[in-house]
Amino acid sequence: MEKTFIMVKPDGVQRNLVGDIVSRFEKKGFKLAGAKLMQIPNALAEEHYGEHKEKPFFGELVEFITSGPVFAMVWEGENVIATARQMMGQTKPSEAMPGTIRGDFGLTVGKNVVHGSDSPDSAEREINLFFNQDELVSYEKNDHNWIY
Ligand code: PPS
Repeated sequence: MEKTFIMVKPDGVQRNLVGDIVSRFEKKGFKLAGAKLMQIPNALAEEHYGEHKEKPFFGELVEFITSGPVFAMVWEGENVIATARQMMGQTKPSEAMPGTIRGDFGLTVGKNVVHGSDSPDSAEREINLFFNQDELVSYEKNDHNWIY
């Protein structure tokens, strides 16, 4: 089943939005495969955002993503990569539709609350950058009689 990497950025953690964002993915019906609150080391931030190394905002991007804890997650489900991008909304909060995470909570292109992988290749790369295999959990959601 397809997996994607989703991260609540430092602004989202500071603003107590972790629960809301987790809840949106849960309610949509996706399955949580891994999650952790972490402080990103500089080297990991530079590697994660490596494709933007030449961009003028690279320094600002790395400085912001390492400025406080992030909540890193792996979500699983059919078409989860593209669907999560829809749920997040456009990168620029001013262009993100109401009802999306960035449309509802984002402030600026930098402080836009959440990151999500944009393709199958980046999802695989980002999941492996942030999670060891033993931090990901594989399980079934069964129709147990204790779910009511
Ligand atoms: S680009 O140039 O179109 O590829 O970049 P874009 O997709 O718009 O943004 C890539 C990520 O960089 C963040 N970003 C910024 N951070 C801080 N300051 C500025 N000025 C800035 N501009 C873009 C943007 O939020 C994207 O982060 P992620 O985590 O990938 O969503």
